[in-house]
Amino acid sequence: TSPSPVSVKPVSLSRFLIEEQRSKGQINADLRLLIEVVARACKRISIAVGKGALGGVLGSAGTENVQGETQKKLDVLSNEILLEANEWGGHLAALASEEMDDPHPIPNRYPKGEYLLVFDPLDGSSNIDVNISVGTIFSVLRCPEGVTEPDEQAFLQRGTRQVAAGYAVYGSSTVLVLTLGDGVHAFTLDREQGGFVLTQSNLTIPEDTGEFAINMSNIRHWEPPMRRYIDELLAGKTGPRGRDFNMRWVASMVADVHRILTRGGIFIYPRDLKDPSKPGKLRLMYEANPMAFVVEQAGGAATTGRARILDVKPEKLHQRVPVFLGSRNEVERATRYHTEAD
Ligand code: AHG
Ligand code: MN
Ligand code: MN
Ligand code: MN
Repeated sequence: TSPSPVSVKPVSLSRFLIEEQRSKGQINADLRLLIEVVARACKRISIAVGKGALGGVLGSAGTENVQGETQKKLDVLSNEILLEANEWGGHLAALASEEMDDPHPIPNRYPKGEYLLVFDPLDGSSNIDVNISVGTIFSVLRCPEGVTEPDEQAFLQRGTRQVAAGYAVYGSSTVLVLTLGDGVHAFTLDREQGGFVLTQSNLTIPEDTGEFAINMSNIRHWEPPMRRYIDELLAGKTGPRGRDFNMRWVASMVADVHRILTRGGIFIYPRDLKDPSKPGKLRLMYEANPMAFVVEQAGGAATTGRARILDVKPEKLHQRVPVFLGSRNEVERATRYHTEAD
Protein backbone atom coordinates (compact mmCIF):
# COMPACT_ATOMS: atom_id res chain seq x y z
CA THR A 1 0.00 0.00 0.00
CA SER A 2 1.31 3.47 -0.79
CA PRO A 3 2.30 5.47 2.26
CA SER A 4 -0.50 7.79 3.38
CA PRO A 5 0.13 11.25 1.94
CA VAL A 6 1.87 13.52 4.41
CA SER A 7 -0.84 15.81 5.73
CA VAL A 8 -0.61 19.01 3.72
CA LYS A 9 1.09 21.56 5.95
CA PRO A 10 -1.31 24.42 6.63
CA VAL A 11 -0.29 27.69 4.93
CA SER A 12 0.74 30.31 7.48
CA LEU A 13 0.08 34.00 6.90
CA SER A 14 3.83 34.54 6.46
CA ARG A 15 4.08 31.85 3.79
CA PHE A 16 0.99 33.24 2.02
CA LEU A 17 2.51 36.73 1.96
CA ILE A 18 5.91 35.51 0.76
CA GLU A 19 4.22 33.59 -2.06
CA GLU A 20 2.13 36.65 -2.97
CA GLN A 21 5.35 38.68 -3.04
CA ARG A 22 7.24 36.11 -5.12
CA SER A 23 4.49 35.02 -7.51
CA LYS A 24 2.46 38.14 -8.25
CA GLY A 25 4.68 41.01 -7.23
CA GLN A 26 1.50 42.17 -5.54
CA ILE A 27 3.46 43.25 -2.47
CA ASN A 28 7.00 44.17 -1.48
CA ALA A 29 8.97 43.30 1.64
CA ASP A 30 7.87 46.44 3.50
CA LEU A 31 4.18 45.76 2.89
CA ARG A 32 4.66 42.11 3.85
CA LEU A 33 6.29 43.22 7.12
CA LEU A 34 3.46 45.71 7.73
CA ILE A 35 0.77 43.04 7.34
CA GLU A 36 2.66 40.62 9.61
CA VAL A 37 3.11 43.33 12.27
CA VAL A 38 -0.59 44.23 12.15
CA ALA A 39 -1.49 40.53 12.40
CA ARG A 40 0.74 40.11 15.47
CA ALA A 41 -0.87 43.20 17.04
CA CYS A 42 -4.32 41.71 16.35
CA LYS A 43 -3.18 38.50 18.05
CA ARG A 44 -2.23 40.51 21.15
CA ILE A 45 -5.58 42.34 21.08
CA SER A 46 -7.35 38.98 20.73
CA ILE A 47 -5.54 37.74 23.86
CA ALA A 48 -6.56 40.88 25.79
CA VAL A 49 -10.18 40.63 24.59
CA GLY A 50 -10.22 36.92 25.53
CA LYS A 51 -9.22 37.66 29.13
CA GLY A 52 -12.41 39.69 29.67
CA ALA A 53 -13.01 40.45 33.31
CA LEU A 54 -9.81 38.60 34.25
CA GLY A 55 -7.67 41.02 32.27
CA GLY A 56 -8.82 44.23 33.88
CA VAL A 57 -9.64 45.56 30.39
CA LEU A 58 -13.41 45.94 30.60
CA GLY A 59 -15.33 49.12 31.22
CA SER A 60 -14.70 52.75 30.46
CA ALA A 61 -11.34 54.49 30.36
CA GLY A 62 -13.08 57.65 31.52
CA THR A 63 -11.74 59.62 28.55
CA GLU A 64 -13.44 60.89 25.39
CA ASN A 65 -12.17 60.56 21.81
CA VAL A 66 -12.40 63.04 18.96
CA GLN A 67 -15.70 61.42 17.96
CA GLY A 68 -17.25 62.51 21.27
CA GLU A 69 -17.45 58.85 22.37
CA THR A 70 -16.44 57.72 25.86
CA GLN A 71 -13.42 55.48 25.30
CA LYS A 72 -13.41 51.93 26.62
CA LYS A 73 -10.21 50.65 28.24
CA LEU A 74 -9.89 48.23 25.30
CA ASP A 75 -10.20 51.09 22.78
CA VAL A 76 -7.15 52.74 24.36
CA LEU A 77 -5.19 49.49 24.93
CA SER A 78 -5.79 48.27 21.35
CA ASN A 79 -4.66 51.62 19.99
CA GLU A 80 -1.45 51.46 22.08
CA ILE A 81 -0.76 47.87 20.96
CA LEU A 82 -1.00 48.91 17.28
CA LEU A 83 1.20 52.00 17.83
CA GLU A 84 3.93 50.10 19.71
CA ALA A 85 3.93 47.22 17.22
CA ASN A 86 4.36 49.51 14.21
CA GLU A 87 6.69 52.31 15.37
CA TRP A 88 10.08 50.60 15.10
CA GLY A 89 9.60 48.51 11.92
CA GLY A 90 10.69 51.16 9.43
CA HIS A 91 7.78 50.36 7.09
CA LEU A 92 5.48 53.27 7.99
CA ALA A 93 5.61 57.03 7.52
CA ALA A 94 2.71 57.65 9.97
CA LEU A 95 -0.34 56.10 11.59
CA ALA A 96 -3.88 57.41 12.15
CA SER A 97 -6.61 55.99 14.33
CA GLU A 98 -10.23 56.46 15.40
CA GLU A 99 -8.82 56.93 18.90
CA MET A 100 -6.32 59.69 18.08
CA ASP A 101 -7.28 63.24 17.06
CA ASP A 102 -4.36 63.63 14.65
CA PRO A 103 -1.97 61.34 12.77
CA HIS A 104 0.84 59.85 14.85
CA PRO A 105 4.29 60.45 13.25
CA ILE A 106 6.99 57.78 13.43
CA PRO A 107 9.49 58.98 16.11
CA ASN A 108 12.71 60.31 14.58
CA ARG A 109 14.77 57.57 16.30
CA TYR A 110 13.21 55.09 13.84
CA PRO A 111 13.47 55.00 10.02
CA LYS A 112 10.35 55.97 8.07
CA GLY A 113 8.82 53.77 5.37
CA GLU A 114 6.55 54.41 2.38
CA TYR A 115 3.20 53.35 3.91
CA LEU A 116 0.44 54.99 5.93
CA LEU A 117 -1.64 52.83 8.27
CA VAL A 118 -5.08 53.99 9.38
CA PHE A 119 -7.19 51.88 11.71
CA ASP A 120 -10.13 51.40 14.01
CA PRO A 121 -8.28 49.60 16.80
CA LEU A 122 -11.37 48.23 18.48
CA ASP A 123 -14.60 48.15 16.47
CA GLY A 124 -17.87 47.46 18.28
CA SER A 125 -16.80 48.95 21.62
CA SER A 126 -20.36 48.94 22.94
CA ASN A 127 -20.20 45.12 22.81
CA ILE A 128 -17.00 44.60 24.82
CA ASP A 129 -18.66 44.51 28.26
CA VAL A 130 -21.45 42.18 27.10
CA ASN A 131 -19.10 39.57 25.55
CA ILE A 132 -20.26 40.01 21.94
CA SER A 133 -17.73 39.85 19.06
CA VAL A 134 -15.60 42.92 18.43
CA GLY A 135 -12.77 43.53 15.99
CA THR A 136 -10.00 45.66 14.48
CA ILE A 137 -10.21 47.29 11.04
CA PHE A 138 -7.15 48.51 9.09
CA SER A 139 -6.35 50.24 5.82
CA VAL A 140 -2.98 50.75 4.10
CA LEU A 141 -2.17 53.70 1.83
CA ARG A 142 1.09 54.92 0.29
CA CYS A 143 2.61 58.09 1.67
CA PRO A 144 2.45 60.69 -1.12
CA GLU A 145 5.76 61.22 -2.97
CA GLY A 146 8.06 63.73 -1.30
CA VAL A 147 6.00 64.02 1.90
CA THR A 148 8.47 63.55 4.75
CA GLU A 149 6.25 64.77 7.60
CA PRO A 150 2.82 63.28 6.74
CA ASP A 151 -0.06 65.22 8.32
CA GLU A 152 -3.84 64.76 7.98
CA GLN A 153 -3.65 65.91 4.36
CA ALA A 154 -1.38 62.97 3.41
CA PHE A 155 -4.10 60.53 4.55
CA LEU A 156 -6.96 62.15 2.61
CA GLN A 157 -6.76 59.76 -0.35
CA ARG A 158 -9.69 58.04 -2.09
CA GLY A 159 -10.37 54.44 -1.06
CA THR A 160 -9.26 53.32 -4.53
CA ARG A 161 -5.72 54.25 -3.43
CA GLN A 162 -5.62 51.54 -0.73
CA VAL A 163 -2.90 48.92 -1.30
CA ALA A 164 -4.24 46.58 1.39
CA ALA A 165 -7.11 46.44 3.88
CA GLY A 166 -8.77 44.03 6.22
CA TYR A 167 -10.03 43.28 9.67
CA ALA A 168 -9.69 40.88 12.56
CA VAL A 169 -12.89 39.63 14.19
CA TYR A 170 -12.51 38.45 17.82
CA GLY A 171 -15.34 35.94 18.02
CA SER A 172 -15.57 32.27 18.96
CA SER A 173 -12.46 32.08 16.81
CA THR A 174 -10.18 34.95 15.83
CA VAL A 175 -10.16 35.43 12.06
CA LEU A 176 -8.01 37.85 10.06
CA VAL A 177 -9.57 38.79 6.70
CA LEU A 178 -7.23 40.45 4.21
CA THR A 179 -7.17 41.80 0.69
CA LEU A 180 -4.07 42.96 -1.18
CA GLY A 181 -6.15 43.85 -4.22
CA ASP A 182 -6.06 40.26 -5.44
CA GLY A 183 -9.10 38.61 -3.83
CA VAL A 184 -10.09 38.21 -0.18
CA HIS A 185 -8.51 35.59 2.08
CA ALA A 186 -9.23 34.52 5.68
CA PHE A 187 -6.73 33.31 8.27
CA THR A 188 -7.77 31.69 11.55
CA LEU A 189 -5.62 32.16 14.67
CA ASP A 190 -4.14 28.84 15.77
CA ARG A 191 -3.84 29.53 19.49
CA GLU A 192 -1.52 26.57 20.11
CA GLN A 193 0.95 27.66 17.43
CA GLY A 194 0.28 31.35 18.03
CA GLY A 195 0.00 32.13 14.31
CA PHE A 196 -2.63 32.81 11.64
CA VAL A 197 -3.34 29.93 9.21
CA LEU A 198 -5.04 30.27 5.81
CA THR A 199 -8.56 28.83 6.16
CA GLN A 200 -10.43 30.42 3.22
CA SER A 201 -9.18 31.72 -0.15
CA ASN A 202 -11.02 34.03 -2.55
CA LEU A 203 -14.13 34.60 -0.44
CA THR A 204 -17.08 35.69 -2.61
CA ILE A 205 -20.34 37.35 -1.60
CA PRO A 206 -23.52 35.96 -3.27
CA GLU A 207 -25.09 38.62 -5.52
CA ASP A 208 -28.53 38.09 -3.98
CA THR A 209 -29.52 37.69 -0.36
CA GLY A 210 -32.42 37.18 2.01
CA GLU A 211 -30.78 38.89 4.98
CA PHE A 212 -30.37 42.56 5.89
CA ALA A 213 -28.52 44.33 8.70
CA ILE A 214 -29.63 47.76 9.93
CA ASN A 215 -30.36 49.43 13.27
CA MET A 216 -34.17 49.74 12.99
CA SER A 217 -34.43 52.04 16.04
CA ASN A 218 -33.48 54.98 13.78
CA ILE A 219 -36.36 54.37 11.30
CA ARG A 220 -38.10 57.66 12.17
CA HIS A 221 -34.97 59.57 11.07
CA TRP A 222 -34.50 57.91 7.66
CA GLU A 223 -34.85 59.54 4.25
CA PRO A 224 -37.90 58.37 2.21
CA PRO A 225 -35.96 56.06 -0.20
CA MET A 226 -34.40 54.35 2.82
CA ARG A 227 -37.84 53.84 4.31
CA ARG A 228 -39.16 52.51 0.98
CA TYR A 229 -36.32 49.98 0.62
CA ILE A 230 -36.77 48.54 4.14
CA ASP A 231 -40.60 48.56 4.00
CA GLU A 232 -40.39 46.40 0.85
CA LEU A 233 -38.13 43.88 2.65
CA LEU A 234 -40.50 43.82 5.64
CA ALA A 235 -43.52 43.25 3.35
CA GLY A 236 -42.10 39.79 2.60
CA LYS A 237 -43.63 37.23 0.24
CA THR A 238 -46.84 39.17 -0.49
CA GLY A 239 -44.92 42.43 -0.98
CA PRO A 240 -43.13 43.81 -4.06
CA ARG A 241 -40.05 41.67 -3.41
CA GLY A 242 -42.05 38.43 -3.44
CA ARG A 243 -39.98 36.78 -0.72
CA ASP A 244 -39.40 36.89 3.04
CA PHE A 245 -36.23 38.47 4.48
CA ASN A 246 -34.39 37.87 7.76
CA MET A 247 -32.68 40.54 9.88
CA ARG A 248 -29.40 40.46 11.82
CA TRP A 249 -27.74 43.43 13.64
CA VAL A 250 -24.71 42.76 15.86
CA ALA A 251 -23.70 46.44 16.22
CA SER A 252 -20.09 45.46 15.62
CA MET A 253 -19.42 46.30 11.98
CA VAL A 254 -16.69 43.65 11.71
CA ALA A 255 -19.10 40.92 12.89
CA ASP A 256 -21.88 42.02 10.52
CA VAL A 257 -19.47 42.35 7.58
CA HIS A 258 -17.86 38.98 8.35
CA ARG A 259 -21.28 37.30 8.29
CA ILE A 260 -21.99 38.95 4.94
CA LEU A 261 -18.63 37.84 3.50
CA THR A 262 -19.42 34.33 4.70
CA ARG A 263 -23.08 33.95 3.62
CA GLY A 264 -24.21 37.15 1.89
CA GLY A 265 -26.44 39.99 3.06
CA ILE A 266 -26.75 43.76 2.91
CA PHE A 267 -25.37 45.99 5.70
CA ILE A 268 -26.74 49.53 5.97
CA TYR A 269 -25.85 52.44 8.23
CA PRO A 270 -27.78 55.22 6.48
CA ARG A 271 -27.68 58.97 6.71
CA ASP A 272 -30.33 59.99 9.19
CA LEU A 273 -32.01 63.33 9.60
CA LYS A 274 -31.61 63.53 13.38
CA ASP A 275 -28.20 65.20 12.97
CA PRO A 276 -27.60 66.54 9.43
CA SER A 277 -23.98 67.31 10.41
CA LYS A 278 -23.42 63.57 10.77
CA PRO A 279 -24.16 61.80 7.43
CA GLY A 280 -24.40 58.39 9.13
CA LYS A 281 -22.27 57.11 12.00
CA LEU A 282 -19.48 55.17 10.29
CA ARG A 283 -16.13 56.77 9.51
CA LEU A 284 -14.84 56.80 5.94
CA MET A 285 -11.08 56.33 6.42
CA TYR A 286 -11.01 53.38 8.85
CA GLU A 287 -14.43 51.72 8.60
CA ALA A 288 -16.17 52.40 5.26
CA ASN A 289 -13.11 52.42 2.97
CA PRO A 290 -11.35 49.26 4.21
CA MET A 291 -14.62 47.33 4.36
CA ALA A 292 -15.61 48.62 0.89
CA PHE A 293 -12.28 47.42 -0.54
CA VAL A 294 -12.75 43.96 1.01
CA VAL A 295 -16.39 43.73 -0.10
CA GLU A 296 -15.66 44.78 -3.70
CA GLN A 297 -12.73 42.34 -3.87
CA ALA A 298 -15.22 39.64 -2.83
CA GLY A 299 -17.58 40.56 -5.70
CA GLY A 300 -19.92 42.71 -3.61
CA ALA A 301 -20.75 46.44 -3.84
CA ALA A 302 -20.30 49.35 -1.41
CA THR A 303 -21.93 52.79 -1.80
CA THR A 304 -22.93 55.83 0.23
CA GLY A 305 -26.44 55.33 -1.18
CA ARG A 306 -25.52 57.74 -3.94
CA ALA A 307 -21.90 57.05 -4.92
CA ARG A 308 -19.25 54.31 -4.76
CA ILE A 309 -17.56 54.56 -1.35
CA LEU A 310 -14.08 54.00 -2.78
CA ASP A 311 -14.52 57.06 -5.05
CA VAL A 312 -15.36 59.49 -2.21
CA LYS A 313 -12.71 62.22 -1.91
CA PRO A 314 -11.98 62.54 1.84
CA GLU A 315 -12.10 66.05 3.29
CA LYS A 316 -11.42 65.21 6.98
CA LEU A 317 -9.63 62.30 8.68
CA HIS A 318 -12.63 61.42 10.88
CA GLN A 319 -15.40 62.23 8.42
CA ARG A 320 -18.49 60.03 8.36
CA VAL A 321 -20.36 58.57 5.38
CA PRO A 322 -23.55 56.54 4.96
CA VAL A 323 -22.73 52.88 4.22
CA PHE A 324 -24.59 50.37 2.02
CA LEU A 325 -22.48 47.26 1.41
CA GLY A 326 -22.73 43.54 0.64
CA SER A 327 -24.66 41.51 -1.95
CA ARG A 328 -24.33 43.46 -5.17
CA ASN A 329 -27.94 43.28 -6.42
CA GLU A 330 -29.37 44.55 -3.10
CA VAL A 331 -26.83 47.37 -2.74
CA GLU A 332 -27.55 48.46 -6.33
CA ARG A 333 -31.31 48.39 -5.72
CA ALA A 334 -31.09 50.43 -2.48
CA THR A 335 -28.72 52.89 -4.19
CA ARG A 336 -31.07 53.20 -7.18
CA TYR A 337 -33.98 54.11 -4.87
CA HIS A 338 -31.86 56.96 -3.47
CA THR A 339 -30.56 58.31 -6.78
CA GLU A 340 -34.04 58.09 -8.35
CA ALA A 341 -35.49 60.07 -5.44
CA ASP A 342 -32.91 62.89 -5.76
P1 AHG B 1 -16.74 51.73 17.13
O1 AHG B 1 -17.01 50.80 18.27
O2 AHG B 1 -15.39 51.50 16.50
O3 AHG B 1 -16.98 53.17 17.50
O4 AHG B 1 -17.76 51.36 15.95
C1 AHG B 1 -19.06 51.06 16.27
C2 AHG B 1 -19.89 51.16 15.02
C3 AHG B 1 -19.90 49.87 14.19
O5 AHG B 1 -19.05 48.88 14.67
C4 AHG B 1 -21.33 49.40 14.28
O6 AHG B 1 -21.79 48.90 13.05
C5 AHG B 1 -22.09 50.64 14.68
O7 AHG B 1 -21.19 51.44 15.42
C6 AHG B 1 -23.28 50.30 15.52
O8 AHG B 1 -23.97 51.53 15.70
P2 AHG B 1 -25.31 51.54 16.61
O9 AHG B 1 -24.83 51.28 18.01
O10 AHG B 1 -25.86 52.93 16.40
O11 AHG B 1 -26.21 50.47 16.08
MN1 MN C 1 -15.71 54.24 18.74
MN1 MN D 1 -15.77 51.04 14.46
MN1 MN E 1 -13.53 51.74 17.34
